[in-house]
Amino acid sequence: MSSWVWLNEDYCPAEHARVSVFDRGFLFADGVYEVTAVVNGQLLDFHAHMQRLQRSCQALELSLPWPVGKLEKIHETLVARNHVQEGSVYLQITRGNPGKRDFHYPDTSVPPTLVVFTQAHNILQDPRAERGLSMVTCPDIRWQRCDIKTVSLLAASMAKMAAQSQGADDAILVRDGLITEASSANCFMVTPCGKLVTRALSQAILPGITRAALLDICQQHQLGIETRAFSPDEAYGAREVFITSATTFVMPVTRLDGNLIGGGRPGSVATRLRKAYLARFGAA
Ligand code: PDD
Repeated sequence: MSSWVWLNEDYCPAEHARVSVFDRGFLFADGVYEVTAVVNGQLLDFHAHMQRLQRSCQALELSLPWPVGKLEKIHETLVARNHVQEGSVYLQITRGNPGKRDFHYPDTSVPPTLVVFTQAHNILQDPRAERGLSMVTCPDIRWQRCDIKTVSLLAASMAKMAAQSQGADDAILVRDGLITEASSANCFMVTPCGKLVTRALSQAILPGITRAALLDICQQHQLGIETRAFSPDEAYGAREVFITSATTFVMPVTRLDGNLIGGGRPGSVATRLRKAYLARFGAA
């Protein structure tokens, strides 16, 4: 059975959803997106995702003519119509279809294209959370505005393919000798003396919604956290390394470039933070 998607002004079956070849998302990757997790049929941290969407649109002078309430209704309706208990909702907005290929932005009479669809997948019972991920480092070749959540994801795909070809689950990106983030997640480590560390926000990383929720949890539990960059060498010697995103929550990394982290088993900080994150949404 086909799933429902939202395209521009209405719901339609996925196989009937069509976007023009002149759409700027297709020709220039001129668009932004959000991925919101669904657990027990409920959206997690939806409003934080919408705030970041507004920020991404502002950064690219992309108009966002749909009120957040309307976008929320679309998300909830698709989750219900597609019977998603666990998974995610993907939203993408592009600068629309000016009817030709032209590098310059079209004038504001060209309406943006809005696409929303759902994907069902396991996030609560992900077996990788029990065993931990095997990851490899890879040069961060992305552009210099990684703080904007654009649909230009080829560098992330290339990093994931490089990891796959080495038999690893995913890649951690390195720029100027320091870890920026993972290919589609933020990165944390616990130092040998127990200090939790994650890179500070800048144009080099995406301001993750899950990362922000974890910082909040740490503050509530009076767990100190240091926001600074760290190198692959420091990560190899760390007690724990883990990554965070809407689709993985808190995911331990137990092997990095062939080095076992924390003896090759998920550590207690990642496990506790994963539980605390789920408890925050009544999903534990
Ligand atoms: N990716 N960094 C990058 C480069 C990301 O692509 C993502 C999310 C994150 C984590 O952000 P958040 O906690 O808000 O999901 C960090 C999504 C899940 C994706 O592209 O599918």
